Amino acid sequence: MAGSQTVTGFGPGKVILLGEHGVVYGYPALAAPLSVGVTAHASFAKRPKLEVPEAVRGEARKLLLAAFDAAVKAAGSPPVHVSLRSDLPPSMGLGSSAAVSVACARVLLQAASGKAPSGKEVAHIAWQMERVFHGTPSGVDHTTSALNAPIHFRRRPDADRASVKEVDCPATLKLLVLLVGQRPSTKQTVAALRARQAKWPERYARIFDEIGHLADEGREAVEEGDPELLGDLMNMNHGLLAALGLSSASIDDAVHLLRAQGAFGAKLTGAGGDGGAVIALFEDADAVRRRLRKKGYTCFTSQIAGPRTLL
Ligand code: MEV
Repeated sequence: MAGSQTVTGFGPGKVILLGEHGVVYGYPALAAPLSVGVTAHASFAKRPKLEVPEAVRGEARKLLLAAFDAAVKAAGSPPVHVSLRSDLPPSMGLGSSAAVSVACARVLLQAASGKAPSGKEVAHIAWQMERVFHGTPSGVDHTTSALNAPIHFRRRPDADRASVKEVDCPATLKLLVLLVGQRPSTKQTVAALRARQAKWPERYARIFDEIGHLADEGREAVEEGDPELLGDLMNMNHGLLAALGLSSASIDDAVHLLRAQGAFGAKLTGAGGDGGAVIALFEDADAVRRRLRKKGYTCFTSQIAGPRTLL
C-alpha cells in the first residue's frame, strides 16, 4: 500500500443469542454478527495514527488510543492514518469495542501485508485491542465479529485457545434489537457477578452449567433453522440471567413487550445490568420494528443467520 491508496475494513457488531456471562467461566455460548458495525478507513502516512472520533473523550479516548497502539505493534506498525465510522449504538451490549477492534485489525493487517487477512489473523490482532478495553474478556465478541458468522464458542478455564465452530443455518433468521437505555460498563457488571459467584460458587456453577446446555441446544436449533426452539431457549436463558441478578425492571418490561408482540423468544443480550439491548426473534421482525418505531421505541432489525446473499 502506498501513496494515496486507502484500505477499508468492516467489523460487524454482535449479539449473544445464548450464553453470555457463563462464557467467561468456560461454558459454551452461541453468538451471531449483526449487519451494522464499524468501518475503518486507512490511508498511507508517515507513522501509524488513529483519528479518535470527537464524541470519544477522557478515559474512553485514552483506552481507545492504548488499544490501537497494541494492535499497531502486533500488526507490524504499518504507517497509516486510521479513521472510524460507526452505525452501531455504543455501550449497549452489541459488541461495539469488538467491532472497532476488528475494523482496525483488518485495515492494519491489509496495510502491512498488501493482501486481505483471514478471519483468524484478524481475530488475533483484534484480541490485543479487546484485552485493553475489557481486561479479561471471554473472546466471544471479537471472534464473532472477525469471522462474521454465527458461532458456537467455548474457552475452557486456563485453555490457551477457544473452541470455535461456525454454525450454518438453512433458513433466514432475523432479530429485532430494542435499545433499553444506558447500562453500567461490561467490566463493572462482570466484576459484580464475579464477586457473587466467588461467594457462592456451587450455586452459580449450576446456573452457568444450565446456560451452557441452552447454548449447545441453540446450536442445533440454528442448524435446523428452527426459530421456535431457539426462541424458547432464549426465554429460558433470560430467566437464568435474571436469576444471576443481571436484569432490571426496564429490561424485563422490554422482554415482556416483545413477547406480547408475538416473539418466539426474547432476552437481554451482552452484559445486562440496568439497560442495554434486548433481542427477540420474530416471524416478521420488520413489521414489529415498524409498529414499535411508530410508538417511539428505538429499535432495528438484522439478519443473524441464513444464506449470506440475504444479508
Ligand atoms: C459481553 O458481550 C459478554 C460477556 O459474556 C462478557 C464476555 O464474554 O467477555 C458478559
